[in-house]
Amino acid sequence: MPQPAITLATKPAANTCLALIFGEGETAGNGFGKLQPTAVEEVKAALSGLGFKGVRGKTQLLSRPAGSDALALAVTGGGDVARLDEAGMEMIAASLYHAVKSAGFEGVSFDLTGYAPELVARAKLAFHLASYRFDKYFGQAKLDKAPTLKNITIACDDVKAAEAAFEPLAALRDGILFARDLVSEPANVLYPQSYADRVKALESTGLKVEVLGEAEMEKLGMHSLLGVGLGSRKESKLVIMQWHGAGDAQPVAFVGKGVTFDTGGISIKPAEGMEDMKWDMGGSAAVVGTMIALASRKTKVNAIGIIGLVENMPDGNAQRPGDVVKAMSGTTIEVINTDAEGRLVLADALWYCQDRFKPQFMIDLATLTGAMIIALGIDYAGVFSNNDELAERIGEASKAAGENTWRMPLPPQYEKQIDSKIADIRNIGGRPAGSITAALFLQRFVNNVPWAHMDIAPVAWTNEQRIPTVPEGATGFGVRTLTQLVERFYEH
Ligand code: BES
Ligand code: MN
Ligand code: ZN
Repeated sequence: MPQPAITLATKPAANTCLALIFGEGETAGNGFGKLQPTAVEEVKAALSGLGFKGVRGKTQLLSRPAGSDALALAVTGGGDVARLDEAGMEMIAASLYHAVKSAGFEGVSFDLTGYAPELVARAKLAFHLASYRFDKYFGQAKLDKAPTLKNITIACDDVKAAEAAFEPLAALRDGILFARDLVSEPANVLYPQSYADRVKALESTGLKVEVLGEAEMEKLGMHSLLGVGLGSRKESKLVIMQWHGAGDAQPVAFVGKGVTFDTGGISIKPAEGMEDMKWDMGGSAAVVGTMIALASRKTKVNAIGIIGLVENMPDGNAQRPGDVVKAMSGTTIEVINTDAEGRLVLADALWYCQDRFKPQFMIDLATLTGAMIIALGIDYAGVFSNNDELAERIGEASKAAGENTWRMPLPPQYEKQIDSKIADIRNIGGRPAGSITAALFLQRFVNNVPWAHMDIAPVAWTNEQRIPTVPEGATGFGVRTLTQLVERFYEH
């Protein structure tokens, strides 16, 4: 896919748009110091005429500065550059990318000489994330109309040091971009088997991957998960990934909802917007992306990733509202609404995870409820947990990762909303607190292990770029938070 090439070098490339950071209120410092003396006055005058103040994330294009082999000058605001941290650099670089991408330049050179290798590496990560696009189904005519920016050169003092600083970030990038690709794929291409095949191919990164089919899941008694797939021609799969990076330490575990398409089943969804339900596997993609990031970085942790892959379709063989299924845990579930299928998939995946791996904690991610969007809007994922320490750590990790999360309660008095007249529980709890009753349902399949549930329905996909490093479309949300969580608190 023609995303720009991003190269580290000691000098800006000739015949490109030269990009420089100008701090807020800067007079002679950083930015101006990189111009030929003959150009300084002219640039100063232009900037003051335009009212450019160096506000972080704001970029101004100017004509070619005197005495330079650049095609043009992009002046990008650095804010308080004396206190520029890695997150700030990410924001500056990603905003710069968006400001120059459609201006028509084939190349841009971002001069970061004088900045620490860690900051240079973060700028490179930001360009990779901001320039992501999913254009594999575009023909040549549409590709030709795509942004023309082909080469990004980052000039820095020490290429080797910056490359070394980028190495762990390359692992993170690979995880995020892989997750975005999975989420972007349409459901005729990405269904349980083809998805499992893609994950199996990740063994080259050092992951161990097992794939269970329907016969194996029958034997395990996973009728909650299997019931969801009854209406589909595609065979349901459970994929188990393992990363061994810390001897015989107790593993951490991530579990993902991988509904490759959610029609709602017999409780079918309205036509309008149903195409969005190709991304109902966003939770599973975050788990896969995290496992890639941990393995590629050779993180010193043992980690398990489990994803339940199912297609929810209406059919003569589909499960009906009112059906009762027995989960692997032995709990019986009355399926009142076949569209509340994610929790049915996770019930068995969670149980299997703790039963087999005895993890030190278990976090599930799922595009579980539309109600989560009503509760938090589109900029936050909800976090539910039976363990304050784990919840606080997730909060801290998500903040450091630049992904917004907000903790939600699990009030026991709402349990009665999911009580059933015919079985142990039912799969919906009515309109009030829809995301909470979904989480309470999941909790019924968690047995004395620190657990958290992240409802990422609001954030798995975005219809517009709201954060410079997250372009329109699949976000890869969760990969950064989970890798941060592991690196901060669980790496040996
Ligand atoms: N995948 C949906 C939740 C969803 C909706 C995610 C919109 C992203 C955007 C989930 O399977 C679902 O259909 N949930 C129902 C639950 C209801 C039947 C209790 C919902 O949210 O309407
Ligand atoms: Mn559904
Ligand atoms: Zn769903």
